[in-house]
Amino acid sequence: MEKSFSSDSFSSFAASRHSTRDFLPTPVDDELIEQIISDGLTSPSWSNTRPIVIAVAKGDVRDRLSVEFLSRWNAIKDVRGGGILTKIKAVLRRHGLPTSNWIVTRSPPKDLMPRSKKQGKELYSYVEIDRDDKKARDGAWARNYEFFGAPVELFVFTHKSLGKFAASDAGLFMQNLILSAHSKGLGTCPQGAVAIWEDAVRKEFDIDKKYSLLCGICLGYPSNEKINSFEAHRLSPSEIMAQEK
Ligand SMILES: Cc1cc2nc3c(=O)[nH]c(=O)nc-3n(C[C@H](O)[C@H](O)[C@H](O)COP(=O)(O)O)c2cc1C
Repeated sequence: MEKSFSSDSFSSFAASRHSTRDFLPTPVDDELIEQIISDGLTSPSWSNTRPIVIAVAKGDVRDRLSVEFLSRWNAIKDVRGGGILTKIKAVLRRHGLPTSNWIVTRSPPKDLMPRSKKQGKELYSYVEIDRDDKKARDGAWARNYEFFGAPVELFVFTHKSLGKFAASDAGLFMQNLILSAHSKGLGTCPQGAVAIWEDAVRKEFDIDKKYSLLCGICLGYPSNEKINSFEAHRLSPSEIMAQEK
């Protein structure tokens, strides 16, 4: 069948997408949000089951969630580097402790650590945040809970029964959605940071218990802040290709 599209510019288009970490307050039209979700749904899916649910937080719901997340983050931000007393106090107080996806708060496994460290080091040095400046680093992380100023936050839930295949479906959906947004001049950033408090999201949306929160994606128009011109390191294909025996 003759193709009715041009694929010539795909590589440069895909390569030109970078995560956006500072947004203008300009609202995103509902029709546009629906269009990019619709583009997300052109992805492949496990037996075409689409085991995902998307909660679109905007307006008052978005603002309430941001306030709640910031309050929880402020309650726990000193726990990680703190002593045993700080940790015990946090457990007793409970406020802010993750209610889902604890994995987000752990360090990556040893073999993947160098890649994660490189990303953190390069991003922070790009925006002139000193590695040892905990306050500045915490401040930068807290921006996650303001959704980096984005007017829209999408929460992606996956069906629990399909395990990694539901997460795979969600990933495929998310990437089509993210590229669709990019093609329309919108910026996005997937956010594991917001996956740790599923209960807060459930308070705002009617979500079937069979689904659990995977991550968030902030969506909006990028500002001209320096952080948005950061280009994360990209691996070369050989770094992820298995060797023949
Ligand atoms: C599932 C997932 C969760 C992520 N969580 C966060 C996050 O919480 N905060 C953040 O600033 N970036 C987050 N990112 C963005 C990654 O850091 C980013 O995609 C990576 O460094 C590559 O950069 P690029 O998207 O600009 O190509 C996440 C990405 C994915 C796929």
